[in-house]
Amino acid sequence: MAKIKNVYKFLKNKKILVTGHTGFKGSWLALWLLKIGCNVIGISKDLPTEPSNYNHFQFKKKMKNYFFNLKNLSKLKKVISKEKPDIIFHLAAQAIVSESYKNPVDTIQSNTIGSINILHASSILKKKCICVMITSDKCYYNIEKNSGYTEESKLGGKDIYSGSKAAAEILINSFFHSFSKKNKLHFCTARAGNVIGGGDWSINRLVPDIMRAQKKGKKVLIKNSHSIRPWQHVLEPLYGYLTASYYLSFKKNLNGQSFNFGPSYKKSYKVIEILNALKDLNGNKIRFKIDKKRKVYNETKILKLNSEKASKMLGWKTRLNFNEITVLINDWYNQFFSNQSEILDFSVNQINYYEKKIR
Ligand SMILES: NC(=O)c1ccc[n+]([C@@H]2O[C@H](COP(=O)([O-])OP(=O)(O)OC[C@H]3O[C@@H](n4cnc5c(N)ncnc54)[C@H](O)[C@@H]3O)[C@@H](O)[C@H]2O)c1
Repeated sequence: MAKIKNVYKFLKNKKILVTGHTGFKGSWLALWLLKIGCNVIGISKDLPTEPSNYNHFQFKKKMKNYFFNLKNLSKLKKVISKEKPDIIFHLAAQAIVSESYKNPVDTIQSNTIGSINILHASSILKKKCICVMITSDKCYYNIEKNSGYTEESKLGGKDIYSGSKAAAEILINSFFHSFSKKNKLHFCTARAGNVIGGGDWSINRLVPDIMRAQKKGKKVLIKNSHSIRPWQHVLEPLYGYLTASYYLSFKKNLNGQSFNFGPSYKKSYKVIEILNALKDLNGNKIRFKIDKKRKVYNETKILKLNSEKASKMLGWKTRLNFNEITVLINDWYNQFFSNQSEILDFSVNQINYYEKKIR
C-alpha cells in the first residue's frame, strides 16, 4: 500500500481538475483535495441536487468553479489550455440509472463524448497530465456472477446507464491505443462498486431515499430488498483514485489500465441489511415498505467485483467494516438534519477519521 504521506506529498500544491465536483463523489473528492492543500478547479454542468454539497462545503469561495456541459469541446479545450491541470479526476456523468431511461441520448453523450472530450482536450497540453477516468462497476455485462467481475470480464449493459459506461470504457481504451505514444497523457479507468455515504442527495438511490423519508416521517419504498451490491463508503474508492494518480505519475505500466474498486466479493450485502442497520442506529425511526409496483430498471440481483488487481498493483483495499460505514452515514445525516451550519467541519472530521484507517 502506498504510504498516505507519499500520496499526499505528491498531490500537495498540484493543480487538480475535478469534473462533477458538484455531485456526491466529486464534492467529497474536491473537499479532500482542498484539505490536502491542492489547487482545485471544478467543472460541472449544474448543481444537481438541493441540498447541495457545493454550497455546504463552501466551494464558491474555496476553489475555482466552471459551469458548462462537457459535451462542449471548444469550451473545454479553452478551460484546459488556460488552467493546465497536473491531474484530472473525471467524475462528471449522468449517473442515475432511472434517469437514463428518461434521457437516454443525454446519458450516452455525457458519459461517452464527455469522457473522450476530457482526454482529447488534455492530450493537446504540452505537459504531462494524469487522468483518472471514473466509469462504474455497471460497465460489466451482468450474468449474476457470484465470484465477482475482474477487469477482463465482458463489458456490456442491459440499461442505458450501464451501456454508456461500458461504451466509455471501450472508447477510452481505443483512445489509449490510438494516441498514447504521441502525447504526455497518462490515464487509467476506475470501476467502483456502489458508493454510499453522507452527502448523497440524488434521487432513486437507497441511502438518500431512506434518509429523506425518515426526515419526513414517511415510509421509504424499496424495490429489490434482496439485491446484492458491492457497497462501500464514498471515501474508499476516492482513496483508490488518489492512489492511482500517484502511481500513474511514475509507473509506466499503469498507463491505459483499468481497476476495480470494491469490497471483497465475499463481503457483499443486501439492500435489506443496509436498511436494517440504519434502522437499528435510528431507534426504529426508519420504516419501509416493499413497493411491488415500482418500476425496476432491468436491475440485476447480484453485482460483485473482484478488486485483486487494485490490491496487487496499487496496494488498495477497503478499510471500513459494515458497521463503521453505516455509523458514518447515519452520523452525517443526523448532523445535517440537526445543524447544517457545522456540516463542513463534520465532513472534514469524517475524512480525518478515514485517514487514520489508511495510515
Ligand atoms: N454513486 C455511485 O454509487 C457510483 C458508483 C459507481 C460509479 N459512479 C460514477 O462516479 C461518478 C460520480 O458519481 P456521483 O454519484 O457523484 O454522481 P452525481 O449524479 O452525484 O454527480 C454528477 C456530476 O456530474 C455533473 N455532470 C453530469 N453530466 C455532465 C455533463 N454533461 N457535463 C458536465 N458535468 C456533468 C453534474 O453536474 C454533477 O456534478 C460518475 O461517473 C458515476 O457514474 C458512481
